[in-house]
Amino acid sequence: MARLLSGIRVRDEIFAESRPRVERLRERKRPPGLAVILVGDDPASKIYVRNKVKACEKLGIHSERYTPPATAATEEIVELVQRLNEREEIDGILVQMPLPKQIDSHKVLLAVDPAKDVDGFHPLNMGYLLTGRPGPRACTPAGVMELLHRYQIPILGRRAVVVGRSDIVGKPMAMLLMHEHATVTICHSRTRDLPAVAREADILVAAIGRPAFVTADFIKEGAVVIDVGINRITDRARAEALFGHDPDKMAAFEKKGSVLVGDVHPRDVAGKAGAYTPVPGGVGPLTIAMLMVNTINAAERRLGV
Ligand code: GUN
Repeated sequence: MARLLSGIRVRDEIFAESRPRVERLRERKRPPGLAVILVGDDPASKIYVRNKVKACEKLGIHSERYTPPATAATEEIVELVQRLNEREEIDGILVQMPLPKQIDSHKVLLAVDPAKDVDGFHPLNMGYLLTGRPGPRACTPAGVMELLHRYQIPILGRRAVVVGRSDIVGKPMAMLLMHEHATVTICHSRTRDLPAVAREADILVAAIGRPAFVTADFIKEGAVVIDVGINRITDRARAEALFGHDPDKMAAFEKKGSVLVGDVHPRDVAGKAGAYTPVPGGVGPLTIAMLMVNTINAAERRLGV
């Protein structure tokens, strides 16, 4: 039987470790402060942002939400970021990705004060990651590393394959695994014979953003499979193809009209992996947990606590 790697369990551990740190900041100075910018009304982004704000409430972190319209110009967002840079009580600034097409995301991310960059997306912090200097790390890859550590999954000398080359997940994920001495391959949509490359992996990270893209032919028997994807399926035939083996999931689909699936086929991974993260309840909760940790780290550093 494949082992389930529970992001919820690890998230709860991280929250429990974070509470006393928030308490200490509140007693000595003030609560950590996080500003979240959500441009437009992408439904998935709205849910992510809501969950981030809820997590702040749970931990006693001050949060502020800014929601400029989908038509906003780059300059408006840059100005908002600059105002937040100046605010003493704001320790972390998060710009939810993706941004609407007309916005130059490079300009926006460059505007964030690197000391308040709780996503680790500023080029300075990306450079710190690349060169192994301390600094904030992108939340999703950092969460995956926490999960691997806390489940004592060996990394040193292992073959790791990351499918997906985004700035948010794929690239930083590969760097973090490499710094812990994995032999890392990054694959993407242009990779020739992707299943064969993926099958080399002792640790396979799927971050492509395509529902159930990773099937049995990608997975080496006994591999550790980390599924970063979250995709909503609304088509009944598709849901049946993915979850026909799982009556509970199909019942949930009938009730809600949709079901979530990762980038990994749920039936295939359960049959072949040695251990894997479920969707939901795998990587998702860890992204939020690491955002809280990055915010607390930024507050402690800024306040000298
Ligand atoms: N969009 C998807 N994941 C993330 C994340 O970790 N941070 C931000 N800001 N946007 C995202």
